[in-house]
Order: sequence, then structure tokens, then C-alpha cells
Amino acid sequence: MQIIHTIEELRAWRKSVGKVAFVPTMGNLHAGHMALVREARKHADHVAVSIFVNRLQFGQGEDFDRYPRTLQADAALLEQEGAEIVFAPDEKELYPRVVQQYKVEPPAIQDELCGAFRPGHFRGVATVVTKLFNIVGADVACFGKKDYQQLFIIKSMVDDLNMPIEIVPVDTGRAEDGLALSSRNGYLTPEQRAEAPRLYYHLSRMKTAILAGERDHATLAQQTSDDLTARGWQVDYVETRNADNLKPATHTDHRLVILIAARIGSTRLIDNIEVFC
Ligand code: PAF
Repeated sequence: MQIIHTIEELRAWRKSVGKVAFVPTMGNLHAGHMALVREARKHADHVAVSIFVNRLQFGQGEDFDRYPRTLQADAALLEQEGAEIVFAPDEKELYPRVVQQYKVEPPAIQDELCGAFRPGHFRGVATVVTKLFNIVGADVACFGKKDYQQLFIIKSMVDDLNMPIEIVPVDTGRAEDGLALSSRNGYLTPEQRAEAPRLYYHLSRMKTAILAGERDHATLAQQTSDDLTARGWQVDYVETRNADNLKPATHTDHRLVILIAARIGSTRLIDNIEVFC
């Protein structure tokens, strides 16, 4: 496995190989990322993983500065998993002009759900992902369903802008108690970590209710929100949406996704569950 820091070297490697599958990450890798790499290997003989903490997708007061940078440990995991290339550019390599002048502007969905609480976040994601796609030139890219809104925005961007890349969604990796794997779980105190699976408990509870015929999505969401608030969480949103277009769920929708974002202490966690009913 090779660690590459420059666009020039990455492009030289790209020219020398056939089909490439790509996994974009911000590093601090865990088992969820390894599942993305394993999926990538099913799609191509050559797998490239990028590690870049993208300032553009962090808002003021968010965790850009303290986001863990763990390149050596990440590289060791990726080598075991069979990645061929780690692309780890520094900020000057990806943003040489300090201010990125051209940005990719997602449609109105960027201001809903997480976007309502993280203004500009999805513009930052769409911009860096476009740059990485242009640099890596991969045939396939794998994205986790844990970031459901991100996956939706990337899929529709690729479709709308005719980007020559296939997007492969990968199921969310979970700890045994149901907590979705996330680099931000590392911020949790032991007490918060014990409480954190409450998100998945509620997603599962709501899914069970919907599968049993309940269609009052607003009441189900309110129950979740009330319980989390009573237990000390700060809830950003609990919403049931159409899984295909991310519009608010109607009574006639049969492919749903329930999405939650909530803060425990200073850590913001997100999770979701699909319900096909
Ligand atoms: O999901 C992430 O880790 C990031 O948003 C991504 C896709 C690597 C872009 O910085």
C-alpha cells in the first residue's frame, strides 16, 4: 500500500491501473470504514481511500480543530483491509487558493434535516467530493448509509451533473448495543457512551410501530424527541421521510427512512433506519 500526498502522483497512479473503486473519508477510521473498503474491493481490483479533514464542511464552533488526525493508525488498518492507495493531501494541495472560489451548490435539500443545523455543510461536502472525484477518476465510490442525507445529495449530484462514477451505498456498521459506528463516538464519556444507543432504540421502536401499521409519524417522532429531551439530550430533529426523495413522508409512502440528529453533551450524533412497509 502506498500513501500519496500530491494530486500529480495520484493521477500518475490512476493512469497506470484499470478499474478503481474509491472510499472518501476524513480519517480516524473504524470498522464502519473498513466495511466500505471491503465493499469497494468487490467492485474493483484497485481501491483508493482518501483521508482529508475538509474545513469547508465544518461550521463555526464545530469540531474541525479537534477532529482526530490519525494517519499512521488509519494507514495500518487500510493496509490490512487491502486498500492499494491512501490519498492524504494537505490543505494547500486541495485548496491552494485558500478560499475555494468555485463551489458545488446542492439544491434545497441542503437546508433541511442536518443542513438546517449546519448551514453550508453540504455545499462543503459536495465541493470536496467533486474535487476528489475529479482527482481520483474512480469508476465506483462507496458511501455509508449512516450519512443518509449526504449519500442522497452525492447520488443526485452525480446523476444531475452526469459524473461518470457509480455510487454504492453501504449499510451502517453498528456496535453490539446498536450504536452506529462514528468517529465522533470517540468524544463520548463512558456515561454518554452508555446512553448513546438510545438513538437506535428509538429508531427501532418507531420502525416496529410503522411495520405494525402506525402512520402517525409526527406523534412517533414527538415521543422520541420527548424521551431524549427528558434524558438530557438536545434534539435537532426526528423525522420520517420518503427514502427515495427525502421529502416528508406521506401516508401512502411505502419506502421510508427515519432520521435523527441529537446532541449528548457537546457531541452531535446522527443515525437513521430504513422502513419498507
Ligand atoms: O463522510 C465523510 O467522511 C465526509 O463527509 C466526506 C464524504 C469524506 C467528505 O469530506
